[in-house]
Order: sequence, then structure tokens, then C-alpha cells
Amino acid sequence: MADAATSGVRLERADGVATITIDRPQALNALDAPTLRDLARALRDVRRADDVRAVVLTGAGPKAFSAGADIAAMAAMAPGDGHAYSRLGHEVLGRLEELEVPSVAAVNGVALGGGLELALACDLIVAAAGVRLGLPEINLGLIPGFGGTQRLALRVGLARARELVYTGEPVVAEEAHRIGLVNRVVPADRVVAEATALAAALAAKAPVALRQAKRATAMVAADLAAGCRFEVEAFGVTFASEDRVEGLRAFREKRRPAWKGR
Ligand code: CAA
Repeated sequence: MADAATSGVRLERADGVATITIDRPQALNALDAPTLRDLARALRDVRRADDVRAVVLTGAGPKAFSAGADIAAMAAMAPGDGHAYSRLGHEVLGRLEELEVPSVAAVNGVALGGGLELALACDLIVAAAGVRLGLPEINLGLIPGFGGTQRLALRVGLARARELVYTGEPVVAEEAHRIGLVNRVVPADRVVAEATALAAALAAKAPVALRQAKRATAMVAADLAAGCRFEVEAFGVTFASEDRVEGLRAFREKRRPAWKGR
């Protein structure tokens, strides 16, 4: 049953599983502020629906789960706007992470920057074979600003996370599976079906036990909120730098950036 359709996000529910689809394929499902707010509304509807027992999150179109924060929107922002954008992303992805029911990201295409950060806010990740996942923000003169500096390290360990954050190099799904970044890799045409089947299997578990399993395992990252607050500040510093302006401009002009270091 289709529940809601807004400009950038779709919500459907069937058999206890809610499917949220980021629906901006023309911009590779980039997460501009309106899309983040639409996602917040979809999550609110999920929280209010007492028949939803698990959530699947995916992206529309064949190319992208999400290509991350919106580069065109960021290029038009003032130096001081970075904090608010990062805070909005954290707020919405925090709500996703804190859903009482389990969530499964169905990574159907590239998951880069804020797109990977969105998947990292889900409990489990099912990825299509061959898709690239990474945090390329460093190549734009930025750092991950939607929780990636914290949640990636929780999945793959500090050394691996630093390598991905410092180099900005993506990994393909198979490598992502080897390092523990994704739970399962399946053929691209099966990714939503497999993620939905996994979500349905979780939806059939004892709800009280599953809820407590989620709460208890979340305690391994009890200081995540402090780390996320720190990341908002650090993202704000990069956003106010000349390098951020140059990095975003160079991306749009399809050339190598010339860093000034300030
Ligand atoms: N924001 C806005 N628009 C984006 C976008 C983004 N992140 N990524 C792609 N698009 C747009 C492109 O501008 C293009 O639009 P037009 O057709 O109007 O020109 C359209 O989507 C298709 O993109 P490409 O032509 O680039 O497609 P491609 O197949 O050649 O490349 C790609 C695909 C490798 C994903 C490439 O688009 C890319 O590198 N995108 C940027 C990825 C990125 O750097 N993400 C991090 C953003 S910063 C961030 O997320 C910060 C944070 O943590 C808060």
C-alpha cells in the first residue's frame, strides 16, 4: 500500500515492512535540505504506525542509493551555513538510527558521502554487487558531516575508517563485505527483494526481544552522540575554509582542485 509521496521521498507499507525510497534520481538521490526534511516526515509516519515492524531504505533509479550531500546546494551556501546543514543531517539520520524497529539499507547503486552515511544509520546493509561505497568529502575540501566519521569506524574499525575518510577512495560492494561494512552482497536486480526478505524475517521475530536487542547493541556506541556533536563542529570548520569553496567549484568544473590550506 502506498502511504505518502512527497517531492523527494516515497513511503510504502506492506506486511509489517515500511519501504522508504529517496526519490531524486535526476540528482542521484542527493540529500538536499528539502529531501532530508521529507525523510524526517517519512520517519515520523513510520514511528506513528504501530503495524510497522521493520524498515527498508533504498534509492530510486538504477544508478544511485544516494550520491550524498547536495553539491550544488552546498556550493551556493555561505561559509557559516555548514553547521546548520550538518546538524539537519545528523538530526534526521539520528531519528533513523533511533527507530525502535530494525532498518535495512538496500544499497542499489553508489552510496557516497552523505549517501553512505545514510546507509550507516541503518542497522544492516544489503548492497548490490559491484556498487561503490565511500566517503569522498576530502576531495571537496570537506569531511563527512552526516555521522560518517563516527559510524564508519564503528563498523570497520578506526584504521580502515581513517583510510576511507583520508583518501576519499571508494570500495566496491564485495570489498565492503570483506571489511564488514555491508552485511550481504546480492545481484543488483535482487537487492530490494533481498533487503525486504531480510526485513520481513526480522519483522516476524518477537518484537519486545528485538527492540531490546537493538537498544542493548546500541550501547557499544554510548558516546556516539558526543562524537556526532564534535563532527558537526569539525564539518563547520571545513565548510568555512577557502578549500571548501575551491573543492566544490573544481568538482563542478570537472578539474583538480588547487588547495590553499586555509
Ligand atoms: N549533489 C548534487 N548533484 C549531484 C551529486 C551530488 N552529490 N552527485 C551527482 N549529482 C548530479 C550531477 O551534477 C549530475 O547532474 P546534471 O545531469 O544536472 O549535470 C547528475 O547528478 C548525474 O551525475 P554525473 O553526471 O556526475 O554522473 P556520473 O555517472 O558521471 O558520476 C558519481 C556519478 C561518481 C556518483 C558522481 O556524480 C559523483 O562523484 N558525485 C559526487 C559524489 C560526492 O562527492 N559525494 C559527497 C558529497 S559531500 C557530502 O556528502 C558531505 C557530507 O557528508 C555532509
